[in-house]
Amino acid sequence: MIKKAKFLISNTDYTKCPPPTKPEFAFIGRSNVGKSSLINMLANHKGLAKTSGTPGKTQLINHFEVDGRWYMVDLPGYGFAKVSKSARGEWEKMIRQYLTLRENLEAVFVLIDSRLNPQQIDLEFVYWCGQNGIPLALLFTKADKQAKSKTQLNVKKFLDKMLELFEEAPDYFITSAETSQGKEEVTEYIAHHVEEFYQNSRQG
Ligand code: GTP
Ligand code: MG
Repeated sequence: MIKKAKFLISNTDYTKCPPPTKPEFAFIGRSNVGKSSLINMLANHKGLAKTSGTPGKTQLINHFEVDGRWYMVDLPGYGFAKVSKSARGEWEKMIRQYLTLRENLEAVFVLIDSRLNPQQIDLEFVYWCGQNGIPLALLFTKADKQAKSKTQLNVKKFLDKMLELFEEAPDYFITSAETSQGKEEVTEYIAHHVEEFYQNSRQG
């Protein structure tokens, strides 16, 4: 369980992020998929990350410190139709640099809307992470919005698509910011990686 989460800093430049001495977990996915809401749910802190019904709310790399031990990062979403080409280019540059160069990044959580069939833009992003050796886990969001069977079907479709290009399916979790589904599982996954980070840094 997360006890205390606090906002640290917002950036467009990965080099200005907090010192990479603590393990870091970033949340990314299509605009409006529920990144900020999920962060708040995990942190037990409603107003921590800013949420909105309007896509494109999160624009920067936002760092939060959790229990003095790890960083949680809220990233701006991709695939927001109303964004200009140049703004999209800026987003890509900022995110690519952050994801490929941030040395303490333990895992990227790619959020996928559990209500939808596999979306090309999500698959492309996940493939890009794979090609760049970025460790990821999938978080299927908004599971409260439909029947369990429907969620299961969409999850299976997405994983099947991934297995067309990956040797094995990634870790994944089914979540809801509304009902807190998945909270314990995701928190445990993070805790496990945090331990590993500190064990490795002691050895290294
Ligand atoms: P950007 O910052 O714009 O990229 O969006 P985001 O991915 O951070 O999404 P955000 O958390 O702001 O949520 C978008 C909308 O979805 C808000 O209206 C939320 O209330 C709603 N929402 C998010 N998660 C859930 C969920 O698990 N269940 C339901 N029912 N609604 C959700
Ligand atoms: Mg957001």
